[in-house]
Amino acid sequence: MRLPLVFAAAAATLIAISGPAVGQPIVVKFSHVVAEGTPKGKAALKFKELAEKKLPGKVDVQVFPSSQLFGDAKELEALLLGDVQLIAPSLSKFDRFTKKLQVYDLPFMFPSTEVLDKFQQGPKGQELLTVMRSKGLLGLAYWHNGMKQMSSDKPQLKRPEDIKGLKYRIQASDVLEAQFRAVGANPQKMAFSEVYQALQTGVVDGQENTWSNIYSQKFFEVQATIAETNHGVIDYMVVTNAKWWDGLPPDIRKGLAEAMAEATAYGNGLAGELNTAARQKIVDAGKAKIQTLDKADLAAWQKAMAPVWTKFEPGIGKDLIEAAQQAAM
Ligand code: LMR
Repeated sequence: MRLPLVFAAAAATLIAISGPAVGQPIVVKFSHVVAEGTPKGKAALKFKELAEKKLPGKVDVQVFPSSQLFGDAKELEALLLGDVQLIAPSLSKFDRFTKKLQVYDLPFMFPSTEVLDKFQQGPKGQELLTVMRSKGLLGLAYWHNGMKQMSSDKPQLKRPEDIKGLKYRIQASDVLEAQFRAVGANPQKMAFSEVYQALQTGVVDGQENTWSNIYSQKFFEVQATIAETNHGVIDYMVVTNAKWWDGLPPDIRKGLAEAMAEATAYGNGLAGELNTAARQKIVDAGKAKIQTLDKADLAAWQKAMAPVWTKFEPGIGKDLIEAAQQAAM
């Protein structure tokens, strides 16, 4: 039987209070859904290295990549249950907990990772790290991946009308659902680990993702065209169970927080080049065509997706949208 989230959080508290046996390292399980060679995969391994160096014998950080331990459908619940201590879902996957993070999914909101970073480091972006505390989730850091590109199994992908009527895999996000409906496509929420097969078998025609994910998941092998739309971002919040975190001995919490800050700087510094390299590998593989778009093409996507902003503004809040826009100026 699956526990409702509120009971799950209570159960996690009990686990947090009981703590590890004396003399044993605290086990910190870190589960994520992407490959090890991606920005998130590398940052997670760096966090392990740094945490174990700063807290020798005191923590045992176990990283589980590629949905090996928990996939999209289970990882947030597992965190609240205390089955895992750190996860880093994409900012698109918190819909059940808060509407505020939907600001990150608005199409064409952030023109680059630099602008996104500026917003996140500002007061509004920092506030969002604690916005889910009452639900038992605490954000420790933002980790970058990159800009999203649109792909399809059709040879033509330049304008919104090219994906009209096509089935698109999306992350579990109502904004992304509205975004694809706005251009006349049929969105389908699906866990990341299922996307390759869904593309290969034609369950869906296309998807949107970063170069590093398109490369490491081999989506480029089962898609005809990847259009360089840069229409949105995939970025992460590293979240922990707030009760577990608060219950840690202060020296451990401090060491983990320092390791997190350093791993964040390392991973975020690498994300751009990893995506550029992944794009090049896709070019070199010569399988999917990379379609560049001109200003008029991009304007057409932007115009078609603009109604999404109006629809979600009440839930997100005008203040957040304005702060995000401010970051681009
Ligand atoms: C996706 O589901 O497409 C991404 O959020 C996966 C990830 O974690 O980058």
